[in-house]
Amino acid sequence: MFKNTQDNQRLEDELDKNNIPDHVAIIMDGNGRWAQKRHLPRIAGHKRGMETVKTITKVASDLGVKVLTLYAFSTENWKRPHDEVSYLMGLPVKFFNDFVPDLIKNNVQVKVMGLIDQLPAQTQKAVNDAIKDTSQCTGMVLNFALNYGSRLDIRMAVQKISQQVADGQLDVDKIDDQTISDNLMTGFLGDLSDPDLLIRTSGEERISNFLLWQIAYSELVFTDVLWPDFDKSVFQKMILEYQHRDRRFGGIKTSK
Ligand code: IPE
Ligand code: IPE
Ligand code: MG
Repeated sequence: MFKNTQDNQRLEDELDKNNIPDHVAIIMDGNGRWAQKRHLPRIAGHKRGMETVKTITKVASDLGVKVLTLYAFSTENWKRPHDEVSYLMGLPVKFFNDFVPDLIKNNVQVKVMGLIDQLPAQTQKAVNDAIKDTSQCTGMVLNFALNYGSRLDIRMAVQKISQQVADGQLDVDKIDDQTISDNLMTGFLGDLSDPDLLIRTSGEERISNFLLWQIAYSELVFTDVLWPDFDKSVFQKMILEYQHRDRRFGGIKTSK
């Protein structure tokens, strides 16, 4: 215990407070395996995973992260058994019920991106209430990707842009990277729409239809830790790993 506290302190001291990634995106994976390892139903893993979301939100906000985007449910996750899907759809209701007062206390603003209208009515209500109740908060943006898929995101952006062209509001020659970024679901984040750091837990090293355009120059960091076991010190280690990367954006190494 004592050693852990010491290690945590050392980690904390090692972090460069001036180089915290502005936008961190996380593919929260491994809930099912966490539960299976304990001979529990998969939903027990999702329940525990929800607690991790609370912990990491607080840690990220305290560190000075400006946007935390969490992949909570993909457009492909509807393929799962009905009972699991319905449990997952109930989680935002529980989560916001418990956690909105803390979010407000920590000045955290909730946003949600994805096809919200396809969610069950009570999930939509929970999400919309949380967005409204935290709309005056000016600190970290806690952005949930819920019923989100990056191909859907890109397809909808293409449709919006095409419509502007068809309506004579936009010249085809004027379409540039910024036009596309602005029309994606992350467009509301402005300069912060691209993650600086993308984390995936559980040992899988794939993107699973998450933020394909936006991660063009993100630093990707993977860990074998399952999402329900993810904690402050693992998160800090991953930020440290990010801080050791040399982000070149196609240029050449800059001397520090
Ligand atoms: C991530 O955990 C949560 C969601 C995708 C909703 P999983 O449920 O994918 O867990 P594993 O990958 O089966 O262990
Ligand atoms: C990605 O995890 C989606 C979320 C974390 C919400 P999955 O568990 O659905 O991804 P795959 O199926 O392993 O690629
Ligand atoms: Mg998974």
